[in-house]
Amino acid sequence: MEKKSPLIIAAPLAGYTNLAYRRFLKKFGCDLVVSEMISDFALIYHNQETKKMTETSQDERPVALQLFGGSKESLLGGLQELQEIADYDYLDINLGCPVHKVIKNNAGSAWLDNSRKDELLDMMTELVKASKHPVTAKIRLGISKDTINVEQTCKILEKAGVEMITVHGRTRTQMYEGTSDYDYIKKAKESVKIKVIANGDINTLDKAIEVLNYTGCDGVALGRGILGNPFLITQIKKYYETGERLPLPTIEMQIEYLKEHFNLLMELKGEFHAVQEIRGISTHYLKGFSNVRDYKVRFSTIKEAKEFFKLCSLILKDEIIQRV
Ligand SMILES: Cc1cc2nc3c(=O)[nH]c(=O)nc-3n(C[C@H](O)[C@H](O)[C@H](O)COP(=O)(O)O)c2cc1C
Repeated sequence: MEKKSPLIIAAPLAGYTNLAYRRFLKKFGCDLVVSEMISDFALIYHNQETKKMTETSQDERPVALQLFGGSKESLLGGLQELQEIADYDYLDINLGCPVHKVIKNNAGSAWLDNSRKDELLDMMTELVKASKHPVTAKIRLGISKDTINVEQTCKILEKAGVEMITVHGRTRTQMYEGTSDYDYIKKAKESVKIKVIANGDINTLDKAIEVLNYTGCDGVALGRGILGNPFLITQIKKYYETGERLPLPTIEMQIEYLKEHFNLLMELKGEFHAVQEIRGISTHYLKGFSNVRDYKVRFSTIKEAKEFFKLCSLILKDEIIQRV
């Protein structure tokens, strides 16, 4: 076997990795789940919606809460508030978000600009000092193809006292275009002694094995690849524990998972909001199956929980649905 038990991390996904989804993913064997990104200013100003995002539960531990912000001062302010109100295990700092409204405030991947190296070291060093919990960071390769600085960034973060770095193998200007570059992730891993986690486009067991072998990373962070396919976590876990390759989940398993995901969302947000969220999520659970187009359309317009469960039952009775 290639490598013993890599860490399997559920990557932060704004709009998805809320408490319900994190608790759900945990059951598949994740070593760590990460919250959606949380704004430092929203914490400082006691925004109630943001406060809800900091809620955690025992059955998802260990959990990382991810903070984003554009200056040392605001991040320290946000952290102070977070430490007062939240119960968690790791503080993750978002240094990779490429979205305009985030980088225009100097947050997310704006920290990867070469002109901010000293500021980054200072900010991260102070955060590590102030944090009651180990600090981790999530980065991209750099701002653009011509300014890739992932090894330098890793060294700065290691020097600041960060315990683990997740590297998404794309640049900021790439957004989600092209593919994750595992050559640079391998270089990132080789540049530091702390844990480095590979991220980007890992959506099958074979891909996870290939990336872990090639990069030598300590684990993988899975985002879009487990959305609608949480069983991938179990497949990777099982493979590294026993060498066994579990088959892809059946439609019956997928519908069971979808229902569980929905029930946890209902518990967290109530029927109205859970129904709105599951509309888009449901289709992911039908990926890789034939003759499901009609169900995808119907899921996308459901209005109540009863309708959701009825559709699930219809799918289970439909004998022409098959894996493609
Ligand atoms: C809808 C969406 C929301 C995301 N939200 C966050 C976030 O809140 N914090 C973060 O660090 N990365 C965020 N990311 C980036 C992912 O964590 C991950 O790095 C990226 O999707 C590549 O990994 P994947 O191919 O496994 O999805 C987000 C990505 C997507 C698609």
